[in-house]
Amino acid sequence: MAASKKLATAAVLVSLLALLVGPSAGLLDLCPVFVGWGALQSLLNSLICGLPGGNYTPPTVPSNPLGFGYYNNSNNNASYCPDAEAAVTAAVEKAIKQQGRGVGAGIIRLFFHDAFVRGCDASVLLNNTVAAGNNTEREGPPNKDSLRGFDVIDAAKEATKAACGGRNVVSCADILALAARDASHILSNGRIKFAMPTGRFDGRESFARETIQLPGPDSTLEDLVRMFKVQGLNETDVVTLSGAHSIGRARCLFLTKDRLSAMNSTYAGQLNETCKINDTVNQDPFSPDRDPNNLDNQYYKNIDKFVLFKSDAVLLSSETTKKQVEANAANATKFEADFAAAMVKMGNIGVKTTHVPGVTEIREVCWRVNNA
Ligand code: HEM
Repeated sequence: MAASKKLATAAVLVSLLALLVGPSAGLLDLCPVFVGWGALQSLLNSLICGLPGGNYTPPTVPSNPLGFGYYNNSNNNASYCPDAEAAVTAAVEKAIKQQGRGVGAGIIRLFFHDAFVRGCDASVLLNNTVAAGNNTEREGPPNKDSLRGFDVIDAAKEATKAACGGRNVVSCADILALAARDASHILSNGRIKFAMPTGRFDGRESFARETIQLPGPDSTLEDLVRMFKVQGLNETDVVTLSGAHSIGRARCLFLTKDRLSAMNSTYAGQLNETCKINDTVNQDPFSPDRDPNNLDNQYYKNIDKFVLFKSDAVLLSSETTKKQVEANAANATKFEADFAAAMVKMGNIGVKTTHVPGVTEIREVCWRVNNA
């Protein structure tokens, strides 16, 4: 909680500074606006203001659809590599074995954060570009000190090269999508199994300020539906994909007073105690075997007294979403099938399916554009 107070104080100071600076704070008018990030919102806006980027056009539904088994197509010599998908799976399995199941949650979130900013083009993985310098998406407030699993994607990239006879043919965007598929399979203990279409190229741009496309934990249902709609996803997808909050962790600084007082009071007390000694808490207190990284429908049973964020609790705030929450809580198989389909749908956001020199490529390493 100490970290949360410090950040909130910093937010107030930055806002005051912006006021003192006076008319030149007109700059702030040009700044992006984070939605649903609560007390941190003004700090986030101030931090991000003035950074490059911002000519963001929401991705359109791809005219050139992805296909299943792109790397298995022997008619396309350039990308033919039938062992590519298995190499990614092995890398994810190895990482989860070595680091624990939490890293699987990290990979699923990486995939979501990639999809929502410039589409599924691995822009979230870049840590330096000509246009943005170090201020790539990784530095964006929703991502910084929060995302994990980059090392797994790097290892999977190396593994695909080895599996493809040393050739660089598998895009980082595809690797991330396949890894998210594999993490879903492993964390659901085999219950969520689906094929992920492939054929994405990697982009060459990434801007921290474009992470305003990501909803925050204080978002209302209207915010969530609007932000998902921009990406071609609907209200049903909001409810389905939020089920990923049955795994992983969250930083204590996001546990607002308002939210804590709306939760089950015993649980809120436990969270407060954990946050005295830890910077993070698990998102799901009730998964079987107390494994906080079981991807299951427990999340829907936790709403609204045992979920961490307002953005989770608001799924009960409309009749339609409430019905879906209840249906998912009652029927694990339905949730699993819906989640698989929604992950594939998310994997189609803003995909780049052709090689345009200078714009798209197959990256040599996932954290840097080629010929940087
Ligand atoms: C609906 C809007 C969403 C909001 C407002 C939201 C917000 C958040 C926040 C604030 C955290 C904690 C981050 C931190 O403390 O550093 C988090 C964690 C997480 N989110 Fe979401 N999220 C949303 C949707 C999604 C979706 C669509 C997915 C994936 C399908 C997802 C997967 C995760 C996972 C797996 C974690 C835990 C990550 C880890 O343990 O490393 N979230 N989310």
